[in-house]
Amino acid sequence: MKKALVIAIDGPAAAGKGTLARRLAAALDLPYLDTGLLYRAVGRRMVDAGLDPATHPADEQARRIMLADLERDDLRVPEIDRAASLVAAQKAVRAILVDTQRNFAVARGGVLDGRDIGTVIFPDATVKLFITASAEARARRRWEQMAPDPDVPDRAARIAEVAAQLQARDDADASRAVAPLRAADDAVWIDTDDMTADEVLDEALRIVRRRTEDL
Ligand code: DC
Repeated sequence: MKKALVIAIDGPAAAGKGTLARRLAAALDLPYLDTGLLYRAVGRRMVDAGLDPATHPADEQARRIMLADLERDDLRVPEIDRAASLVAAQKAVRAILVDTQRNFAVARGGVLDGRDIGTVIFPDATVKLFITASAEARARRRWEQMAPDPDVPDRAARIAEVAAQLQARDDADASRAVAPLRAADDAVWIDTDDMTADEVLDEALRIVRRRTEDL
């Protein structure tokens, strides 16, 4: 039987992983899982229960996570950025969420984006991409996503604030003991700084084609 096509996409926050993963999945007709949402959903349950994820174990909350939790519309808020990063540093939480991620791609393969997909979740993924962008570009994009008024007078200061927040979270994600943010040795890097979303997609499709031709 032909092995299911699994594409692992890792990288720091706001580098363009989600946009690429969603479009790549659509182009290749594969299921897509944003694994950050799993940690966000656990963080959400902790916050809702009034528990501080910096000091309380979150395994009970992690055990209760179902894919339907990922549909909640209150997962991408600053409070949950922090909570997600904290629960993601808990070893037991990561262990509980491994099967959910692997089972997701069992039947039809899939595109998964996160921090440890190519290193821990799918070390045998068909294709591994590591998506990066400069701190400035990532902060500007994230700010534009949240974008209120592009002409606010303190735009530069606000973007600098977002850059500091992203940097703090990446430092935490990259320096934790379990499954830190890291490129797999066999990952192909794409630096998205000077690329449009279409160009990133084209480059990724080229890499996938090249890789799957050899199979
Ligand atoms: O991709 P995101 O910003 O939605 O992820 C939220 C947090 O979850 C992030 O701070 C790191 C963590 N995360 C992780 O540790 N491993 C993953 N595979 C995905 C996300």
